[in-house]
Amino acid sequence: SSVETGLSPLSSPPPVILTQDELKKIAAYKAVEFVESGMVLGLGTGSTAKHAVDRIGELLRQGKLTNIVGIPTSKKTHEQAVSLGIPLSDLDSYPVVDLAIDGADEVDPFMNLVKGRGGSLLREKMVEGACKKFVVIVDESKLVPHLGGSGLAMPVEVVPYCWKFTAKRLQDLFEDCGCVAKLRTTGEQPFVTDNGNYVIDLYLKKDIDDLKVASDNILRLAGVVEHGMFLDMATTVIVASELGVTIRNK
Ligand code: 5RP
Repeated sequence: SSVETGLSPLSSPPPVILTQDELKKIAAYKAVEFVESGMVLGLGTGSTAKHAVDRIGELLRQGKLTNIVGIPTSKKTHEQAVSLGIPLSDLDSYPVVDLAIDGADEVDPFMNLVKGRGGSLLREKMVEGACKKFVVIVDESKLVPHLGGSGLAMPVEVVPYCWKFTAKRLQDLFEDCGCVAKLRTTGEQPFVTDNGNYVIDLYLKKDIDDLKVASDNILRLAGVVEHGMFLDMATTVIVASELGVTIRNK
């Protein structure tokens, strides 16, 4: 999709048209301004986070950042960071992460998030839960009044063992919201996460009343590994729109 910044008189330069990917890049570059040499950095996953990782690699190459340790949130980001020469480690070696930068699928007015439509929610939640600062980078299309109300998927990572049983229990849990639980697939095959698990996407017709209660109820189900609601975790949200960049802090 693209965004037009408005009409200009004939004598003015042509209107600037920013694509969604350009907005993602603007948010990502802004977030990287928070990165300082010597930091342990959580490296997010997805098309927005990819711009941030590229930028960190570029600044390292230019010598403008030094002594960085990256903790990738997926195998894909691990590969990207290796290709850029970013030194990497993990939470076993660095249990406290200074700053993480990652995208999101939905951001509500309280800075709660839905993540995991890219399938990396578990590692993202582990790394971002270990952060002193978690900077979320989005284009304005990700802003929603309520999580899960957009008719798009609320991802839940489950163990493959008897996944239909777990999917049914998840669907029953949100019966009041008109929930339909679907196994995520790639072609004919189940989508498999970096952790060897499956993803059940919950499609809700009605908003969830209490996100915290919903989170607790999902996590109580045996067979569930983690869900994509990131409640009260973001410390900063950077939103890029055709009007510019806004930064919200907790
Ligand atoms: C991956 C994620 C991503 O951060 C989320 O899906 C946003 O992706 P994108 O930046 O490509 O829109 O949670 O699991």
